[in-house]
Amino acid sequence: MGELERVFKTFIAYLKRPDLYPELGRKILKNTVNRNNAFKGKEKTNIWAQSKAVSQKEAISRLFGVDASLFKIEYKDVLDNAAQKEKECPIKMGGPGALELIYYACEFSGAKNVIETGVAYGWSSLASLLSLTKREGTLYSSDMPYLGQNGDQYVGYVVPEELKKNWKLFRFADKESLPKIFVENKIFDVVHYDSDKSYDGMFWAYNELYAHLKKGGVFISDDIGDNSAYQDFCEKNAIESTIIEIDEKYVGVFVK
Ligand SMILES: C[S@@+](CC[C@H](N)C(=O)[O-])C[C@H]1O[C@@H](n2cnc3c(N)ncnc32)[C@H](O)[C@@H]1O
Repeated sequence: MGELERVFKTFIAYLKRPDLYPELGRKILKNTVNRNNAFKGKEKTNIWAQSKAVSQKEAISRLFGVDASLFKIEYKDVLDNAAQKEKECPIKMGGPGALELIYYACEFSGAKNVIETGVAYGWSSLASLLSLTKREGTLYSSDMPYLGQNGDQYVGYVVPEELKKNWKLFRFADKESLPKIFVENKIFDVVHYDSDKSYDGMFWAYNELYAHLKKGGVFISDDIGDNSAYQDFCEKNAIESTIIEIDEKYVGVFVK
């Protein structure tokens, strides 16, 4: 499919979904007058992140006092099945991030309520749910439907059926999903941000998520090197964050 055809298909798909009109407006602004917003402050943040970065294993050991390699051993079959499902999925989306970090953040905080933005195949959802189901907890997720690719039905594709009873998926843009989620639950043990990567989108959501994170809860954000939203947010709130480098990208994590 050509780029023009993809943009046209996405636009038509949006028009059929009035609940997504606010996001359509924001997307148009993002891709026209606000184009530079995605990379605002990127250079300074990459210097900052690089100077602090540790491996995921090191961060998990320091923050949660556990050996992260146990996760892949304990859940080998589940993870193999999920990888197989990803292979079979006809729609291509983003792959797994810091699964161990998410899982052990839930274990560390004894999580009963977790919120995440950005689901795609559902790798991060799977990591949270594997811990949450032990306590009959709930994962609240926000994800934009994959309109252009007609891939709505495949969001969360790698999550096994038996884990879905502990999962509430809100299929709207974050600006609509988060207020709906906060009506259902106000305080969370773990928050994980991995959706809209514009500076404004990140900065807005960080403030919302932080306000709804319990004291002693864990805050995680993927792709903090795309712009300086995470660094600016941490500095504004005097937060000392751990930075993890994975596949030349940076993940931020701190305990509130
Ligand atoms: C990197 S993927 C998420 C990967 C997932 N956390 C994982 O570990 O498998 C990013 C997701 O964010 C969603 N997304 C992007 N912008 C969004 C927005 N404004 N609101 C809600 N979801 C959004 C996309 O639909 C996509 O599924």
